[in-house]
Amino acid sequence: MKFFIDTASVAEIKEAAAMGVLDGVTTNPSLAAKETAPYKDILKEICRIVPGPVSAEVISTDTDAMLREADDLVKIADNIVVKIPTTLAGLRAIKSLTDRGIKTNATLVFSPTQALLVAKAGATYVSPFIGRLDDISQDGMQLIADVVLIYENYGFSTEVLVASVRHPIHVVEAAKIGADVVTMPLKVIEQLIKHPLTDIGLEKFISDYKKANKQ
Ligand code: E4P
Repeated sequence: MKFFIDTASVAEIKEAAAMGVLDGVTTNPSLAAKETAPYKDILKEICRIVPGPVSAEVISTDTDAMLREADDLVKIADNIVVKIPTTLAGLRAIKSLTDRGIKTNATLVFSPTQALLVAKAGATYVSPFIGRLDDISQDGMQLIADVVLIYENYGFSTEVLVASVRHPIHVVEAAKIGADVVTMPLKVIEQLIKHPLTDIGLEKFISDYKKANKQ
């Protein structure tokens, strides 16, 4: 399972990269809006830090404008993946970019039918947003299970990138289903390593060592 960080913060990306388990980055316009530097400058810096795939999102809503934006984004670095919203216009853009060998990430996916279509169009990644489904009382993880099954049934090469992840249980459930990638905020990556019994056990080992060595 690949781990991506879901942020446009260079500081957070550096922190996650230092853990040695970071495979890529996903950004979006809302994440970029939290930063002060221009989006393209941030993307350039992120691509310098992380050699893996870095998703950069278009904001246009018609196919031709999406393709023009994609052409600009891929000039930033070789590891840019163009993030395209999963609409009819987006589907056409994904197909066109795939035909030209440009990697894409189909974003804002909320149904198995959307996932099936973007796989047929050749998307490199599909991003089902599970947290946002959970927020409206729909089972986000069931969508991941459905998409993984559908892709396995037909041998689609599109990777299932679990997005809108809110807590470690999302990561565990996605791993049990066999999703290819999980993108998560730094906070969730950090939560994955934490266990209170590890902290309590370590404290006891240290105090017992001191006792044993009369320190
Ligand atoms: C993924 O690519 C998206 O940027 C992200 O996971 C959206 O998450 P949110 O629902 O927490 O905004």
